[in-house]
Amino acid sequence: MSLQEFYENSFNSEKGRPPGDMIQDALTYSKGLANYVKESKDRFLSGLDWQGLKVCEMGAGRGGLALHLARMGADVTLVDFSPSALHQAEQLFALENLHPKIVVGDVTYPDLDINGKFDLIVDSHLLHCLTDDPARFSYLQLIRDHLSQRGIFVAETMVHRKKLYIPDGFMFDQNNVLWQMFNEWKPVRRILDSLDLEKELNNANFKISYFYYYAQYGFVPHHSFMEIPSEILPASVRFVLQK
Ligand SMILES: C[S@@+](CC[C@H](N)C(=O)[O-])C[C@H]1O[C@@H](n2cnc3c(N)ncnc32)[C@H](O)[C@@H]1O
Repeated sequence: MSLQEFYENSFNSEKGRPPGDMIQDALTYSKGLANYVKESKDRFLSGLDWQGLKVCEMGAGRGGLALHLARMGADVTLVDFSPSALHQAEQLFALENLHPKIVVGDVTYPDLDINGKFDLIVDSHLLHCLTDDPARFSYLQLIRDHLSQRGIFVAETMVHRKKLYIPDGFMFDQNNVLWQMFNEWKPVRRILDSLDLEKELNNANFKISYFYYYAQYGFVPHHSFMEIPSEILPASVRFVLQK
């Protein structure tokens, strides 16, 4: 089973849930990051109004983050390689009479057509799902190609810390890739050291306008990590990039 099939199956397995329940979960989960995105927009795109602002969420899943922004009037595009995730996102948006543009595709394909340039591109927990260097580089180039001249890319991702607890069924290799055992080992997360992440963003030719390491925040990569104390979970970085 490919990872794309894995995501598709896991979204599909929840298709019977009432959209009214899902929307509350999606909004609550993404509220903190949505506030950070709003602050970043006010700081770096202060002259632009939310109304009609061209926003794209990469790896949107059910689009909880973008829904907060669409509520303020943003013109939202959602990108994901799981058709079920995007179908559920459309249902959640429709509850509020909002209609995002939908792009089903793999963000690591450089020629993915996401239709135009964006003032704001957001990534809530996609980057750390891309585990190999060429795929990550290709993704970052896709972002560069689709940012407007003064546009910003705002993301939250998990990063390594010195002590990391890896439960049974997972392994962590020397390239900072977390593997999960399905019927075979699959690479599921890339948990870079924050300094290496910073280098990677510089090498992709971005200007780093903001980069903050949240040591106190314990990131749960998978529900098998749920009971683990936050100080031995991955930490989190939020950043803002410009061209
Ligand atoms: C960890 S989930 C995050 C979902 C959502 N952004 C959130 O914060 O709840 C990662 C999402 O990225 C999507 N994804 C993973 N790899 C992708 C790829 N190469 N291209 C497009 N979407 C991808 C998955 O289908 C999934 O919806």
